[in-house]
Amino acid sequence: MQIQQNISLRPYNTFGVNVACRQFAAFQNTDELIELLNSGNIGKSGVLILGGGSNMLLTKNLDSFVLKNDIKGIEELHEDKDFVYVRAGAGENWHEFVSYCTSKGWAGLENLSLIPGNVGASPMQNIGAYGVEVKDLFWDLEALHLKEKKIQTFTLMDCAFGYRDSIFKNKYKDQFVILNVTFRLRKRPIFHTNYGAITQELERMRVTDLSIKAIAEAIINIRSSKLPDPKLIGNAGSFFKNPLVKRTLFEKLKKQYPGIVGFDNPDGTVKLAAGWLIEQCGPAEDISWKGYRVGDVGCYPKQALVLVNYGNATGTEVFDLSTQIVQSVRTKFNVTLEREVNVI
Ligand code: FAD
Ligand code: EPU
Repeated sequence: MQIQQNISLRPYNTFGVNVACRQFAAFQNTDELIELLNSGNIGKSGVLILGGGSNMLLTKNLDSFVLKNDIKGIEELHEDKDFVYVRAGAGENWHEFVSYCTSKGWAGLENLSLIPGNVGASPMQNIGAYGVEVKDLFWDLEALHLKEKKIQTFTLMDCAFGYRDSIFKNKYKDQFVILNVTFRLRKRPIFHTNYGAITQELERMRVTDLSIKAIAEAIINIRSSKLPDPKLIGNAGSFFKNPLVKRTLFEKLKKQYPGIVGFDNPDGTVKLAAGWLIEQCGPAEDISWKGYRVGDVGCYPKQALVLVNYGNATGTEVFDLSTQIVQSVRTKFNVTLEREVNVI
């Protein structure tokens, strides 16, 4: 294990923002992690655990000890009549893990194909897409408490999963390092094709025999058509959450803006499409944020919820644009957007 000093984090965040960190190291197992935590290198700023860096915006040089989780391994723990229980190391690439499970015929994760990042971060914000969230497949996880250096198991109930939310973003924020996650996958699939354009895409692909592989392929096609590839254009996916509002506010907005997009939530609230709200606002009366660019920072032309770095934008520039967007949406719709990306 090598501890590097003053390195650039540009290769380690999908926004491609160029900030430096004082100290950096990667660990491949729990013993190495504990060794690093005991190495006397942790200063006042503490540690930052890094996965694939696809859900963070780095706005300054970091004084913290950056620890990259490279714990690998996929293990089939056991199976019963209906399910197979599969454990993956936190450092496994998410999409490769999903593809591996799909190729084995283990069902459930296929709708979550092509989400960047690593397995260890997937429970952090209960990643979700196309009608499925990690909580639907989650069995348990093991995490190391940073101070006590003890391993704790968290079950589904313990994680308090919500929309882009978990206990690790709230009560246990910055307290645990997730080491591995176990998923309970189906031997016989239940297909989720109702969301968005999945059915349309399957038809376009001329799929007659529905399978988890076909769904994965359809999702990959849809995502590739509207989301920027971070290898080409820096971004962290949706920059904001879709806001949950009371039905009464939604009805009121609908009268004023008949085109507004909202989806009913089981708890009676309505989830507004933030992309639509952002598209209706802009830096001036007749200009939309969607496709807007100033210098190297912008709002993606095909998806207004995604902020992008076209090259050399700084984290602060991206953050400032996000603040302008929040303000304009609040002024026009009286709805406050919350950032989904972790701003550091
Ligand atoms: P990082 O960015 O490295 O870390 C995210 C947070 O988790 C940080 O606070 C970090 O400190 C913490 N963390 C990371 N690993 C650990 C660990 N092992 N233990 C403790 N803390 C940890 N998200 C969705 O939900 N749905 C989508 O459809 C989606 N689409 C995306 C599309 C694109 C093009 C991009 C760039 C991003 C997208 N995202 C999406 C966001 C992102 O991919 C997910 O949030 C992903 O889970 C982040 O994983 P990561 O390993 O890159 O996390
Ligand atoms: N829309 C617009 N303009 C836009 C973008 C969207 O009007 O520029 C409207 C359209 O009506 C569209 C609707 O919003 O039908 C929904 O758009 P989309 O299907 O692209 O999904 P989203 O709500 O913008 C969410 C997640 C994504 C996830 C997709 C698919 C959040 C914050 N984002 O986006 O997750 O992949 O659904 O399930 O919930 C992420 O978290 O990083 C992410 C990319």
